[in-house]
Amino acid sequence: MTNKIDKKNSKILVTGGAGFIGSHIATALLKRGDEVAIIDNFNDYYDPALKEARAGKLSAEFPGVKIYRTDITDHDAIAEIFNKESFDKVCHLAAQAGVRYSLTNPLIYEHTNILGTLNLLESCRHNGVKDFIFASSSSVYGNNKELPFSEEQRVDNPISLYAATKKSNEEMAYVYHHLYGLNCTGLRFFTVYGPWGRPDMALFKFSRAILAGEAIDIYNNGEMARDFTYIDDIVSGAVAAIDKSYPYEIFNLARGESIRLLDFINEIEKNLGLTAKKNLLPLQPGDVPATSASIERARRMLGYEPRTSVAAGVRNFIGWYHEYYKK
Ligand SMILES: NC(=O)c1ccc[n+]([C@@H]2O[C@H](COP(=O)([O-])OP(=O)(O)OC[C@H]3O[C@@H](n4cnc5c(N)ncnc54)[C@H](O)[C@@H]3O)[C@@H](O)[C@H]2O)c1
Repeated sequence: MTNKIDKKNSKILVTGGAGFIGSHIATALLKRGDEVAIIDNFNDYYDPALKEARAGKLSAEFPGVKIYRTDITDHDAIAEIFNKESFDKVCHLAAQAGVRYSLTNPLIYEHTNILGTLNLLESCRHNGVKDFIFASSSSVYGNNKELPFSEEQRVDNPISLYAATKKSNEEMAYVYHHLYGLNCTGLRFFTVYGPWGRPDMALFKFSRAILAGEAIDIYNNGEMARDFTYIDDIVSGAVAAIDKSYPYEIFNLARGESIRLLDFINEIEKNLGLTAKKNLLPLQPGDVPATSASIERARRMLGYEPRTSVAAGVRNFIGWYHEYYKK
């Protein structure tokens, strides 16, 4: 199997389409000829200018893309869009993301991730949508001790409210599959990075701080490991899931190889030609020390094959960062 994305020509809604992952998935779908609409509320969890720039790039490259500046928690507005558009498929990525932010702002997670997702499931149900592909997260594995994390493991012990809402999304989707025959596929993304990435995540935060000569905070005294996944690999897995129309499935999407955070930082330093000032701190509540995924199921059922090494991925990100921020 290859990661080649073939032309399918469906009408697809991408929620969170001005976000990091959503803008890349929308681009891949538009490139192969699908009709795409995005919904995003362009909120200020991080710099909305970056969301505007992603959406601006989408419209410049694909003038046919429809952009709805709508909140997924607004039931009537969402119902109206679905009623008007007759989508074949929905790729639902809009969410309040971030583990640490969920410790201080729990209510927004319930509002966006639970109510927002329910609104979309309801609209799918009432408008004949066939497929609902949605973002879950590696965080559902909580502190599971058995590595690598595989889809067969129990995920009953989330350790952040963010993780609890993602687990709940998997269950809500199951209900809509069971009761109404909606095909649902949940994708557990593992620490996604790459060009146009999220300013609240490690690679972006570290690069910005190192370039400004500021110290970077490293938790668990550096004893952290993550299965960092490059955006193009995530896109290929997500598009395969969109095309497969499985009745109900959950997949890990990761690189399938964990890397120590300190080695990841070393890669950033190499690319920037600078040395980071490191602030070693204890493990943060809600955070897990290590993630590592089994990707056998995605390989077997989606033809998924991650191709981007951490060295190439970090290089691409830093190249984009320099160009975009002129720094
Ligand atoms: N990036 C990762 O490493 C990662 C890992 C696991 C899971 N995920 C999940 O993948 C999805 C995409 O993540 P991302 O990294 O692209 O994040 P992102 O924050 O860049 O994208 C999410 C988008 O959703 C939009 N949004 C938020 N609340 C909304 C609302 N109420 N109505 C309409 N739009 C709203 C935001 O404006 C944003 O553009 C999310 O569901 C996230 O939880 C991401």
